[in-house]
Amino acid sequence: MVYFVPRIKDRSAIISEARSSLTGRIVDSYTNIPTLKLFAHTDREDDYARESITDHTRKFHDQQRLITLMEIVVWTINGALIVATIGLALWLWSRGLITIGVIALTARLVIRINNMAGWVMFIVTSIFENIGIVQEGMETISRPHGLVDVPGARPLSVTKGEIRFEHVRFGYGLERGIVDDLSLTIHPGEKVGVVGRSGAGKSTLVNLLLRFYDLESGRILIDDQDISRVTQDSLRAKIGMVTQDTSLLHRSIMENILYVLGGGWTTALLRAFTAVPMHALCSGMMGFYIGQAKFASSKDQENRLQKRGLWIAVGIHGSYDFLLFIVPLHGLIPAFGVIPILIGNYIALRKKIKSARDEDKKLGRS
Ligand SMILES: Nc1ncnc2c1ncn2[C@@H]1O[C@H](COP(=O)(O)OP(=O)(O)OP(=O)(O)O)[C@@H](O)[C@H]1O
Ligand SMILES: [Mg+2]
Repeated sequence: MVYFVPRIKDRSAIISEARSSLTGRIVDSYTNIPTLKLFAHTDREDDYARESITDHTRKFHDQQRLITLMEIVVWTINGALIVATIGLALWLWSRGLITIGVIALTARLVIRINNMAGWVMFIVTSIFENIGIVQEGMETISRPHGLVDVPGARPLSVTKGEIRFEHVRFGYGLERGIVDDLSLTIHPGEKVGVVGRSGAGKSTLVNLLLRFYDLESGRILIDDQDISRVTQDSLRAKIGMVTQDTSLLHRSIMENILYVLGGGWTTALLRAFTAVPMHALCSGMMGFYIGQAKFASSKDQENRLQKRGLWIAVGIHGSYDFLLFIVPLHGLIPAFGVIPILIGNYIALRKKIKSARDEDKKLGRS
């Protein structure tokens, strides 16, 4: 046990690593399946996956070989124990030193011990196998983050929008610096295009501004605040970035849009429940004036009533859409502004209908 169990644990960790690599390769191929098909490199992909499968199988066989060897050793020792114990009992019985009942009892006991040993071996081995797997996983999951917010980091506050690179040096930890002693000031409102050959370090500059990496030396300041001293979330939330390649989360298009808008579930629900009544009320308002225009006493009044109907409907509907639209930008309060508009519109339309009915009565039209 002392010899085999730690070795089984180590091999288990090795298999777990191989399994992760195998899963990673297969998931990578499947997620990029259109690209793979376009390049028509099926054989190369097969080889790539096969290499991982072969490696995983070899490591799995290594472990199984060790477990089988352990089982052979344990069963041989157990077998020897049974043979020796029962042999000794028989010998003692042949000498008349013990009775036949003792032989039966001894045989039963030794077989029981044998079964228990197999069971203990199975349990201990699987515990250590799992410890190996967990250890390998922990190395990935519990790796300490190198890039963290400093204690007491405050959110970035952008007032003017000035960006300053001061003697920045960075090279992805490599000897040759990619960005070496770069100083650059981008004034508020200034538009700057960074031009250079591929690999010159343009994306690196943006990555540094977003603090995806810490600088080797120098500072980057936004409105005089060192970006390494503000919270990473507030820094990235303040920077709008259009990446070179498009990417979608593996969710519906609507969920992707809502993700960008910061959730937006409340807006979606609000729209679901208010859109139809709002459309109906706006068309009611417009219909009211168009109806009145039909009874206008002059062409001029007819035009005026038609225009009023149109503008009132557009104005109310426009405000409704605007309030829902600006939610993701300014919090939820404006979105709920659609409710008073809806109620106000309803009351106004009822009043208009009532006053028209009264007028009809007065003129004897109904
Ligand atoms: N994560 C990384 N680790 C190590 N080196 C990197 C890493 N990312 C980029 N590099 C290297 O840094 C250099 C600058 O890369 P960068 O992506 O900033 O270039 P670029 O100017 O944006 O190029 P392109 O015009 O092709 O987008 C390149 O030599 C690249 O190989
Ligand atoms: Mg780039």
